[in-house]
Amino acid sequence: MEIRSVGIVGAGQMGSGIAHVFAQAGYDVLLNDINAEGLEKSVGLIARNMDRQVQREKITAAERDAAMARIRTTLALPELGASDLVIEAATENEAVKHKIFAELLPHLRPETILTSNTSSISITRLASRTDRPEKFMGFHFMNPVPVMQLVELIRGIATDAETYDSLLAVVGKLGKTAASAEDFPAFIVNRILMPMINEAVYTLYEGVGSVKSIDESLKLGANHPMGPLELADFIGLDTCLAIMNVLHDGLADTKYRPCPLLTKYVEAGWLGRKTQRGFYDYR
Ligand code: CAA
Repeated sequence: MEIRSVGIVGAGQMGSGIAHVFAQAGYDVLLNDINAEGLEKSVGLIARNMDRQVQREKITAAERDAAMARIRTTLALPELGASDLVIEAATENEAVKHKIFAELLPHLRPETILTSNTSSISITRLASRTDRPEKFMGFHFMNPVPVMQLVELIRGIATDAETYDSLLAVVGKLGKTAASAEDFPAFIVNRILMPMINEAVYTLYEGVGSVKSIDESLKLGANHPMGPLELADFIGLDTCLAIMNVLHDGLADTKYRPCPLLTKYVEAGWLGRKTQRGFYDYR
């Protein structure tokens, strides 16, 4: 089946970025959120990012207009039943994801591929609670989606070859590169990236370095585009903590223990850029 339309659940930073790249690649996009203001903000963000692409002569104004015209929004999750492919990009909370799938499933066509942009949760477990484990996959984009080249493709134990091949073709059409990962906690990128970020928080917690010296060390000493604490703020400290907990619980190894300082920041509501405060103050 050729995929022409995509439904996206969740209009946060990941859902917005995913909508952006799909619309630009010629897909019809239906973006859903429970919050009308969230949808409005998301469309505004996509428009600003596309405007910047026009200014930098990456795309023409006509291409921007055509891509923006392909994005529609809805507060009604069942409307995504008309899509050929659905990508769940809601918050990194397993119970929330199960609830979304339960509400959506009665409205999906049998051939629709259902995916999750989860950064760490078991695809096999998510799939097992749906009516289509063979048509369910992990479809993991990196932030900022319009910039990052990689997409992780994660097969659950029951995912069939046809579903994998369809998503591989979609990744190609988006102009991105796929990495195939087995279904183990946090897959490839976050299995490696999050312990590094967590270690940076321990380095701060133990007073080995300051926020500035830790970030500068990795930027200037290891050529990372962002320091690990700046990157944690960018990703969201709640997401970082959720992923560390999945690693810790799923692999049962103390080396994945979340740093108590990371937990404390999340408890304080200091979640990084999205709340204007994390390891840095953005107010
Ligand atoms: N949306 C769209 N485009 C964006 C953007 C955004 N949010 N932020 C930056 N860009 C674009 C800019 O327009 C610019 O485009 P051109 O090169 O075409 O002109 C380009 O990205 C570079 O931007 P800037 O020059 O403004 O800034 P920079 O050089 O400092 O780069 C960055 C910004 C790309 C974010 C860079 O700092 C970077 O690569 N950081 C690391 C990001 C990273 O590691 N992401 C993975 C996070 S892990 C993850 O996502 C997985 C998970 O599950 C948690």
